[in-house]
Amino acid sequence: MYNILTLNKISPIGLDRFDSGSYRCADAVENPDAVLVRSASMHDTVLPASLKAIARAGAGTNNIPVEACTEKGIVVFNTPGANANAVKELVIAALLLSSRKIYPAMQWVQTLKESDGDISKQVEKGKGDFVGPEIMGKKLGVIGLGAIGILVANAAQKLGMEVYGYDPYLSVEAAWGLSHSIHHAKSLNEIYENCDYITLHVPLTPETKGLVNSASIARMKHGVRIMNFSRGDLVVDDDMLAALGEKQVRVYVTDFPSACMIGHPGVLAIPHLGASTPESEDNCARMAADELIDYLENGNITNS
Ligand code: MLT
Repeated sequence: MYNILTLNKISPIGLDRFDSGSYRCADAVENPDAVLVRSASMHDTVLPASLKAIARAGAGTNNIPVEACTEKGIVVFNTPGANANAVKELVIAALLLSSRKIYPAMQWVQTLKESDGDISKQVEKGKGDFVGPEIMGKKLGVIGLGAIGILVANAAQKLGMEVYGYDPYLSVEAAWGLSHSIHHAKSLNEIYENCDYITLHVPLTPETKGLVNSASIARMKHGVRIMNFSRGDLVVDDDMLAALGEKQVRVYVTDFPSACMIGHPGVLAIPHLGASTPESEDNCARMAADELIDYLENGNITNS
């Protein structure tokens, strides 16, 4: 019997993969053979001697002490691509929200009162304050062409954007998935100098931490709109705030709200919702469960 410790609520579609005759899955188990986790941080978790594997139902593994696991021979799995469509859809929504003044317009409509006159007349009179540009024909820079970046690039291109993609580690298989008309940028500077919109799709590593900082922002086009649905630490918050103040960055959309950005008019912030769809939760749970089963029963390692 294998003991699987579940550290977050895991979709039943994933839990059902474990044969109840051979596996016990629970949020508290003695001597776990494996852990199934979504976003809960394991950095302060004691890694028991019984632990053989951790499966992250998601792409990023920065909530797991990967180095400590490697030293102890614990295999860490993730589920690349399983939530890519969900994240892509949110990024496309963010792209439109960064352009068209949908959110401030909605907030304004909620403040209208019938006692101030006919609502339709008030709406008609005030709508001129909410003009925002179309994305068609504008240039989008996609930094990072993994599973999510590729879907975003292809979708934006279908919406009529001119897309620049940058990824020094682009695999041949991934390149095949990219639409032909996407321009392969040779450097980040090419993205910074040309693009009206930039979206980040890289993992958080020592190399990418603080990628968006005062120096990189200074190279970008004035009034650039930036989307960050990858990891908060890719952006230096103080530098972003300064750039928003100077209108060098017009809008910053993120699902990593930090305290200093709350209430800032140039920031559109939501919780980390990229993967929050039932479809994506099912896909991630299914893939993570299958990886664990294949490893525990057959010793096979995929997506580690
Ligand atoms: C991921 O790493 O898969 C995404 O950021 C979504 C999530 O954290 O669940």
